[in-house]
Amino acid sequence: MMPPAADAAVDHTDRYTALMDVIHSRKTVRAFAPYHVPRVHYDMILEAARHAPSGANCQPWHYIVVTDPTIKERLGERFVQEQLRRARLGMKFPTPNYKGMKTAPGLIVVIADFRFTRAFPVLNDGSETDRRYKINAERILLQSVAASTMLAHLAAAALGYSVWWVSAIGQEEIQNEFKPLLGVPDDLSLIDIMCFGPPASSPYTRWKKSLDQIMNLDRFTLANAPTDEQIDEWIRNERARVMYRDESRID
Ligand SMILES: Cc1cc2nc3c(=O)[nH]c(=O)nc-3n(C[C@H](O)[C@H](O)[C@H](O)COP(=O)(O)O)c2cc1C
Repeated sequence: MMPPAADAAVDHTDRYTALMDVIHSRKTVRAFAPYHVPRVHYDMILEAARHAPSGANCQPWHYIVVTDPTIKERLGERFVQEQLRRARLGMKFPTPNYKGMKTAPGLIVVIADFRFTRAFPVLNDGSETDRRYKINAERILLQSVAASTMLAHLAAAALGYSVWWVSAIGQEEIQNEFKPLLGVPDDLSLIDIMCFGPPASSPYTRWKKSLDQIMNLDRFTLANAPTDEQIDEWIRNERARVMYRDESRID
């Protein structure tokens, strides 16, 4: 069915199909083949990011295109160390191998300016009500930066690259180490890293929930909400498989 505002003579199916083609082609890889990303591709990717929606249209994001191989090496090595740390802490999270970050042809650091939470509906008077609104304000800000980052990832996928969204940069220690290296002022937060390039080996498609599992009509379908026990079981038995296997290899 055509959306009401659309011209009845125009069929938008082709545009939707082209968009879905890009969406399907976006796949995470964590090891890349050598490649020189042309400057124009960084511009095209961040041009997409620039057009994202954001709460209060405050656009609380900045991007640092990292081309210096020594910085990539340091970032990658820090994440390899983080990988070991998590193992030592017994987190049991199936942490990936971060070595591939060191040689990612494209690497963009995503920065969030959390001061813009003040631009959202908050009282800014330190009261309990203010605190509750501020929690939501932080969520609005994170959603805004994610919307922009997602557009960057889709633009990279449209250009034929495989992508890698690394959020593990958020911890305070990593922030403290990398802000000076990248010249980022203290008020800003390094929130994630986007790596991209040609894949070192064929990327695979990961399991996604079915439409029925996520779509509810008028009222929430309770069967779609897992119980706490089911979530714990999913973490125990499924998580690693859905992260690191092709969907066709998940029984
Ligand atoms: C918000 C967010 C954070 C992520 N953080 C990491 C990360 O820190 N390290 C990592 O290797 N992958 C990370 N990923 C990649 C996911 O593991 C990946 O998207 C997921 O397994 C689904 O695979 P797909 O991207 O191929 O659909 C992140 C993805 C998102 C959207």
